[in-house]
Parts: sequence; C-alpha cells; structure tokens
Amino acid sequence: MEDVETLRADVLAAIAAAGDLDGLEQARVAALGRKGRITELMKGLGAMAPEQRKTAGRALNVLKDEVANAIEARRAALADADLDSRLDEERIDVTLPTRPQPEGRIHPISQTTDEIVAIFGEMGFTVAEGPDIEDDWHNFTALNIPPDHPARQEHDTFYLHGSGTSGHADDDRPVLRTHTSPVQIHVMERTPPPLRIIVPGRAYRCDYDATHTPMFHQVEGLVVDESTHMGHLKGCLTDFCRAYFDVDDLPVRFRPSYFPFTEPSAEMDIGCTREGGKFRIGHGDDWMEILGCGMVNPKVLENCGIDPERYQGFAFGMGIERIAMLKYGIPDLRTFFESDLRWLRHYGFPALQVPSLVGGLDP
Ligand code: PHE
Repeated sequence: MEDVETLRADVLAAIAAAGDLDGLEQARVAALGRKGRITELMKGLGAMAPEQRKTAGRALNVLKDEVANAIEARRAALADADLDSRLDEERIDVTLPTRPQPEGRIHPISQTTDEIVAIFGEMGFTVAEGPDIEDDWHNFTALNIPPDHPARQEHDTFYLHGSGTSGHADDDRPVLRTHTSPVQIHVMERTPPPLRIIVPGRAYRCDYDATHTPMFHQVEGLVVDESTHMGHLKGCLTDFCRAYFDVDDLPVRFRPSYFPFTEPSAEMDIGCTREGGKFRIGHGDDWMEILGCGMVNPKVLENCGIDPERYQGFAFGMGIERIAMLKYGIPDLRTFFESDLRWLRHYGFPALQVPSLVGGLDP
C-alpha cells in the first residue's frame, strides 16, 4: 500500500499549487476522482486482513476529509483572489463624465414647461391635457365667445375640413385650438370641483413675425372652488413669477383687461429696465406684460354644468416661449422652431438636470 504520509504531502502540495479553479479541479480529480489516488487505495481495503483494514481505513478516511477541506479552503481563496483582481481591474472613477459625452440638449420649451410644472406642482396644481384639434364649442362658444363675437377675429383661426359634432354653431368646422383655454372646458365638463390644474400645450394661430409663429405653446391655469377670490389669483401668480424669474421682490402689477371667459379680467406685468433694445427683469422704471388672467366668467361655469352660485374660480394663460425668451434672453421667437443645432447647443439645457424648487430650476 502506498505510504499515506507521502500521498498526503503530494495531494496537499498539488492543491496548494493550483493557480486557478481549473487547476484545483484537476488536483481534486487526481486525488478523489473515480480513478484518483485516494480512491484507488480505498478500493484496495477489501483485500486486507480485518485488523489491517481497520487501521488503514481510518487513516484513509481522515486523509479524505482533510483533502476535501483543503480543496474547499483553496477554492474560497481562489474565488476571493479572483474577485479582488476583478475589482482592481474593473475599477471605475464614478466622478468622470459619461462617455461618449452627452450630445443632446433639452429644448428651452421643454425646460421652461418643466420649470412651470415644478412651481405650480409645489402649489398643489396637477397637469391636465386636451386635444390640439378642437370643435367650435370647446375653443369658442363654451368660453363665452359665440359665433358673432368680435373676439373670434383676433384669433386668426386655422379651420380644418369637415364638420364638427358639437352642434353649438352654424360654422362647426374643427379648428386647431387657438389657445389652451378649451382644456378648461374639457376638465370642467368631466370633473366636479374643487379643481386646481395647469395645462401646458400647443396652440395655433395664422400669424408669423419675430414675436408670432403659427404654432406656439401656452400654459393655462384653472382653479375652481367655493371660496377662491381675486386675492388668491394675485397671490398665486405673484408667487409664480417671483419663483420663475428667481427675483424675491419682483414688482408686479395687474391692469384691467378683457377676455370673454373671465370677469373681471386683467393682464399681469412684471417690473423691468430697458436700455436700447435690451431689458432686464427686476426693479426698474418699466413694465413687461406677461400673462392674461381673471375670475372665471359665471357663464363659462354654467356652460360646463357647474353651479355659478356655489362655485367660483380664476384662470390664467401665458405664452411659454414668451417667458422663456424673457428669462433666457432669446431675442427671436422664430428661432425656437428652426432646429438649428448651434442654437440648440447654445440655448438648450443638460438632459440630466430635472428642474425642481429644491434642486434648482435651471443649471
Ligand atoms: N386664452 C387667453 C389667450 O390666449 C389667455 C387667458 C387664459 C386669459 C385664461 C385669461 C384667462 O390670450
């Protein structure tokens, strides 16, 4: 019989010498496999005399356990070393910028919309949406702009082919919505008050110059409940402007105005200074108009099946491009829609910075 001590020394040396998991497996098979040295010795036990078999059997069993433990320990050590070297090799510096460098930029319209949503979201408003193609009822009539109303002329409406289904006007062609106000009607028709919504979206008017494009964006606001009054309107919009332009004591004023769907109606101005063609938002001797607003006309509530004796509210609408131009110093509206990469790189925003009041509205 092979000398157990020599065998032990050989097998343990082979295990210790195994440089990787494959080598270790070879050492295991050579010792404990079907034809391994220890296995072969165990097979020989049957031919021994009882006394001899007892001693040799015990010695082999002890060796077998010892070898199995040594293999396990070596396996764990190799796995550790393997992990250590991978961690070392694959180490990354998480402070490096991503590669390839981010190419895309967030368009100022999207950025401004996100900023507006962040501010009104903090005040408890939720975002509502409606269709770009409207019927006469939602775009005009329900908003207290009946077919013969002079306000219709000011809207430079794009009419589409076909006829609508609202049955509220003789000329019932579908239109591209001329403002986001029709979404007020959709929301009031289907949701009982109290309501507190903003509606960012596209609007369309047949007009084109440095301050008008046939498609532009507005954000509508609507609050309806039992006790809202003009003071809430003024406070809400003042807070919004101060947060959006990041000027704590931004001067504001409300001028009487007219919209068929609000009564009374107002336009809101913010303070600014102008020198030559340039202006700066903040304290100054001049004013800049930024939005239209008013208390929801009781006729509009009635048109949506809301009892005007019980409910009242306010609404406002502003141009998203306009307030983006004022905040970010963009001189020409038409450039928003030219898809000029140099313009987008210059005026666009990094994609990973989501505007929030806590984290900051803009980079
Ligand atoms: N819809 C108006 C416009 O497009 C803006 C507005 C909305 C005014 C809501 C008052 C209330 O000019």
